Parts: sequence; structure tokens; C-alpha cells
Amino acid sequence: MNIALASDHAGYDLKAGIARYLAGREIPFEDLGCGPGETVDYPDYAARAAERVQSGGCDRAILCCGTGIGMALAANKFKGLRATPCWTPFTADVSRRHNDSNCLTLGGRTLILDEALAIVRVWLEAPFEGGRHARRLDRIKDFEARNFKP
Ligand code: RB5
Repeated sequence: MNIALASDHAGYDLKAGIARYLAGREIPFEDLGCGPGETVDYPDYAARAAERVQSGGCDRAILCCGTGIGMALAANKFKGLRATPCWTPFTADVSRRHNDSNCLTLGGRTLILDEALAIVRVWLEAPFEGGRHARRLDRIKDFEARNFKP
């Protein structure tokens, strides 16, 4: 599995810690920025990673901003992205098993590194369960296809 990894300035330290974790476990990843000391706009970095997933160059993405919320909002505008802000190992587990998350978003201002790594570990390993969950995701794909407005 190849991971697209990106952050804004508020998620930079968390991204750096996750990069060390992935490298230590020989999990392939691409660090798409931002760099240290930069102040950037998170949508630009969500876009970089989302495009890598859309093109098939990366299988999944991990995005860090201040809360994980802005990155999720931005990434979910890209067709095929299922970005899920997760704040506990439980939410990470369910995001994979039920939502087939392919983009984990994390908050550098809401999580310490050890908490984030526990979330990453679970999210990397938990499988999608399919079945009724696949049917529900298909409904969401319908919305995407029709640019759904209520
Ligand atoms: C940056 O200051 C901050 O707004 C951003 O990282 C994030 O929290 C947005 O959701």
C-alpha cells in the first residue's frame, strides 16, 4: 500500500511523526508537503494528495491540519475520495470497516503523536466489511454522480 501524506502548517509536526512511523515500518509513502516553517492553505495540500489517489498513484491518503476537518472537507470534493476525520482508534476502525475510508484526516491541534499513531495503525490494518456497507456507499456514489441537491 502506497500512502499520499500531506499537511498544512498546523499539521506539519504530526505529518513528520507519521512519516517517521511509516518509514520505520517500511510502508511506502509520498510526502507531498508542506515543508517545515511554511504557512500554507490546507485545500492545496488536500488536492495534491487527492489527485494522487484519484490517479491510482497512491492507494490511500493521510492528511493532517489543525483539526482534520478542513482537510476532510476539501478531500471529499474529489470524486472517489472517502475522507474521514478520526479522533480515536475506534472511529478509525469503523471508518475502514463501514465507510471504506481511503483518506484519513487528523488534527495536529487535537491529537498528540502517540494518539495519532494508534489511529493510523488501526486505520492501515482494518478491512472494509462490504455487504450492507457497500450498498450504503453506493448510495453516496449516486449522490456524487448526480451532484445531489436535496
Ligand atoms: C490553520 O490555521 C487551520 O485553520 C487548519 O489547519 C485547519 O484546522 C482547518 O480545518
